Amino acid sequence: MIRLDKFVCDATGCSRSQAKRLIKSGCVTVNQTPVFTPDSKIKEGEDAVAADGRTLNLTGKVYYLLHKPAGVVSASRDAISETVLDLLKGAPGRDLFPVGRLDKDTEGLLLLTNDGALAHRLLAPGRHVEKTYLVRTDRPITQEMLDRLAQGVDIGDETPTRPAKAAFLPDEPNGLYLTLTEGRYHQVKRMLHAVGAEVTYLKRLSMGPLTLGDTLPKGSWRNLTEQEKRDLGVS
Ligand code: URA
Repeated sequence: MIRLDKFVCDATGCSRSQAKRLIKSGCVTVNQTPVFTPDSKIKEGEDAVAADGRTLNLTGKVYYLLHKPAGVVSASRDAISETVLDLLKGAPGRDLFPVGRLDKDTEGLLLLTNDGALAHRLLAPGRHVEKTYLVRTDRPITQEMLDRLAQGVDIGDETPTRPAKAAFLPDEPNGLYLTLTEGRYHQVKRMLHAVGAEVTYLKRLSMGPLTLGDTLPKGSWRNLTEQEKRDLGVS
């Protein structure tokens, strides 16, 4: 038997005081019944513990999807600017880090976790995980530009970019959807520059099986759903 608050700490990586607060707020259930007392005893492996409807286990791994706003840096710490981890204050979890980076002026989907193995799988160059961006530019996009982006372009690296998917943005001449399977430095901006346009706005819409959707406000985060975790192979 262990105390409920200790179990919640161990399962989520949160601090004991965060666990107590969570339990007292009524978010934690044991066998589907809310339990409000942090020192209640539970039987590990027998009692089903959940927080906000999510089953807790003792791996301590957490997965958050953040709608990153522009102006925030994708680092864990920064002396001057607000970081994506600052936006996750209050989210249970130890040793969180962003999976890959978005530029300071880029918005959109960013996964934060403490699961290094998952991050490695998503970022490994050989895996070619798809990332889709909504891109706005300083001039109209032409079919020729889309064709060149789709083939792969020379952006000054040793090798040209891998073939990408590129499509017009409906009703916006100065825009496109671009799907990449690599993560080079400033890749979208450099690819557009190579075909004669400058990026004026950039937003990541998806990464592998994860999509941002329309309901998560900018600057907010949510837990991955059980289905999303299954899609990523972590549940
Ligand atoms: N490509 C870029 O140029 N910037 C980003 O933030 C992401 C992809």
